[in-house]
Amino acid sequence: MILGHFYQREEVVQHADYVGDSFQLATAAKGRADAEAIVFCGVHFMAETADLLSKPEQAVILPNLAAGCSMADMADIDQVEDCWEQLEDVFGDLDAPDEEGRVPVIPVTYMNSSAAIKGFVGRHGGIVCTSSNAQTVLEWAFQRGRRVLFFPDQHLGRNTAKAMGVPLEQMPMWNPRRALGGSTATDLVDSRVILWHGFCSVHRRFTVDQIDQARAEHPGVRVIVHPECPMEVVDAADESGSTEYIRRAIDEAAEPTTFAIGTEINLVRRLAAQYPQHEIFCLDPVVCPCSTMYRIHPGYLAWVLEELVAGRTPNRITVTGDVADPARVALERMLAAKPPVPAGVR
Ligand code: 13P
Ligand code: SF4
Repeated sequence: MILGHFYQREEVVQHADYVGDSFQLATAAKGRADAEAIVFCGVHFMAETADLLSKPEQAVILPNLAAGCSMADMADIDQVEDCWEQLEDVFGDLDAPDEEGRVPVIPVTYMNSSAAIKGFVGRHGGIVCTSSNAQTVLEWAFQRGRRVLFFPDQHLGRNTAKAMGVPLEQMPMWNPRRALGGSTATDLVDSRVILWHGFCSVHRRFTVDQIDQARAEHPGVRVIVHPECPMEVVDAADESGSTEYIRRAIDEAAEPTTFAIGTEINLVRRLAAQYPQHEIFCLDPVVCPCSTMYRIHPGYLAWVLEELVAGRTPNRITVTGDVADPARVALERMLAAKPPVPAGVR
């Protein structure tokens, strides 16, 4: 089975059995026990997730091992363990529930994180989210904890919590290079969401000026951005949502519409080609591909397929040891909190 993330280039996606966002592809990996091998055309954390959710005898293959995610790399397990110890100094026993049964802090990690981080979260009563279920997951966490430690993407955390009514003053940032993350103990005690200092370099490029320009040049334009964009950009847009949300919004538009989209260029170009009745363009005029997604060159895909035909298993991604079981627990909590819309079959 070949899985393709929405950000893959067309020459790769045309070979995929399923195309979708990270949530949909995680469940596609879980749902095809008959596939001997799963070739994941996406980035490293997605392949790790597929390995965690598929059967042990299924091999998950990443066509280029250098296809990582710079945002996922911004939360390193040692930094996160260190953060947790500092939070223990502030709050005491982080596993001890109060009189209402809620613990001081629930860790929530974005899917865009290493298996080690997912394992950490699973061990400490936490959960994974993606951009398509972040609100549901935060509601889950607030039922169990006084506050959330959210990593690695500050923007998804801030945008989601703000939409749920959490005031910005109650969302201090945690900079792993500073004592107490650069906050005071009082800020942390008063907080509802502690935001890790991470971001996506692709989505950080979108600006309010680009939205203003799109509105000036295309009266009536519908602006949709990914929630990894900075808060000001999400606030200035008409809507924000995951890659699958963006695809569905365009698919469901009954009238010919002009869409300005704030996400990775390969998806925007594909949508523009698939829906010629609409005018669809990327908000950033200097096109912004995700350079690590782009490392899945079609030549690598051909190579891993040829290797499989020859009876070899190249570039296998396996999550083992102490990490795998708690990481799977954190993922299963997410899947139980909100089942996804199935990935598109090509
Ligand atoms: P989705 O969860 O929307 O697929 O996004 C993943 C991602 O890496 C966005 O930059
Ligand atoms: Fe990571 Fe950003 Fe690329 Fe998504 S677009 S895979 S968050 S670097």
